[in-house]
Amino acid sequence: MQVAIIGTGYVGLPTGVGLAELGHNVVCIDNDESKLAKLKNCELTIYEHGLQELLEKHLNKGNISFTASMKEGLLDANLVVVAVGTPPHKDTNEADLQYVYAAAQELAPYLNSYCVVAIKSTVPVGTGDEVEEIIRKINPQASYDVISLPEFLREGYAVYDFFHPDRIVVGADSIKAYSLISKLYEPLLATSTNTKMLCVSRRSSETIKYASNSFLALKIHFINEMADFCEQTGANINEVASGMGLDHRIGRNFLKPGPGFGGSCFPKDTMALEHMAQKYEVNLSLVKATLNGNQSRIDNMAKRLVTVAKEICDEPIVGILGLAFKNGTDDCRFSPAMQIVEDVLKLDPKIVIRVFDPKAMENAQFILQEYADRIIYVKNANEVSHSADVLAILTEWPEFSQINLNYCASKMRNKIILDYRNMISIRRAHELGFSYSCIGMGTDDLHQQQLSRPL
Ligand code: UDX
Repeated sequence: MQVAIIGTGYVGLPTGVGLAELGHNVVCIDNDESKLAKLKNCELTIYEHGLQELLEKHLNKGNISFTASMKEGLLDANLVVVAVGTPPHKDTNEADLQYVYAAAQELAPYLNSYCVVAIKSTVPVGTGDEVEEIIRKINPQASYDVISLPEFLREGYAVYDFFHPDRIVVGADSIKAYSLISKLYEPLLATSTNTKMLCVSRRSSETIKYASNSFLALKIHFINEMADFCEQTGANINEVASGMGLDHRIGRNFLKPGPGFGGSCFPKDTMALEHMAQKYEVNLSLVKATLNGNQSRIDNMAKRLVTVAKEICDEPIVGILGLAFKNGTDDCRFSPAMQIVEDVLKLDPKIVIRVFDPKAMENAQFILQEYADRIIYVKNANEVSHSADVLAILTEWPEFSQINLNYCASKMRNKIILDYRNMISIRRAHELGFSYSCIGMGTDDLHQQQLSRPL
């Protein structure tokens, strides 16, 4: 099948490469010439595990190509996938659809024979109707169907998720369009027995994406509130989450407490859903509570860190582990870690930060330029500890659980760990004389942990 993908970001690029691996001929279209030059040269513009190898394979085979020309990209296309960004509007927080509308306007003149236009960008309910209308006005002769084909790829795991989706949701009101999408994913469905393909109306499909992300965000917010509860009652959130997760109706996933959720999807999509609800005069009280609660949590995490640091000395050095919004990515957009770093620096002008992240240092350095004189970017996790008074773990990179605590203990000025991702062995931290605190455990429980209770 001949596929054109508009947008080469975190969604468009892994989708394009994945479809090439399924045997399709893919042309990726983007208006950023510098990005295109890199991609043509097999240089990735984002970090995604496993993407580099697949891109190289299909560039060499000639199954994937890159262009800035809509005309060239759409030549003979059976399917056009719109995978451009829908960031929150800077004033209203609703999804900003300017790039989706622009894509629709630009692609419309080049629809020569029957083509499916699939919207993969996360868009408000009803956007499919608008895109259909835009195309019709520009090219009334065109034979096409506009469908919703939401993505559920996690950043950092996008390649894995592409080949192992739980479901492929197709929002199509035309059998012809649905058949084309079935054919597109036929090679994947043949091998991935756990994947379900679901055909629903376009509006239901658009809603499924928002409802799914908001529900997951709510689940995280719930476990974070339970963590607060455990801190006061002396229960242990890790044990509580394990006990809850064993109930299949609840499930284990998305029950990890932390400093709050972030990233380019959960904050943006919950905000956009709340905005839509206001428009339709529906009270989505849980979505509202999730949004506000998550923001307060991030603020409180920064305040907690400043309080701990300032109790020790007037000019503390804070070692930070993690800047990306989660592990496995270099993405710092809406990262709780980034917000905490910024808040800490704003809350106290005497604090200096030493920081390390395995992938996100470059992106973070760019965003945090105005604080350049108070942030020291170091080369590895252990170096964060040099002369530090507090060590704070903000992103759940697995390697942080393996940090050399012995080394840190010998290098730190004061031995305090604030573990916002519950990653460090409590027993080990105590053995080395650290004052250790984490999320969702009262102090009593932390001491009991040293007894290594069998779970
Ligand atoms: C999400 C959805 O999971 C994906 O299906 C969708 O298409 C895009 O948005 P992503 O933003 O890549 O993916 O990240 P995800 O892995 O879902 O994590 C989001 C945030 O929640 C991160 O900040 C992460 O640290 C946090 N999180 C996640 C927790 O705090 N606890 C958890 O148990 C899970």
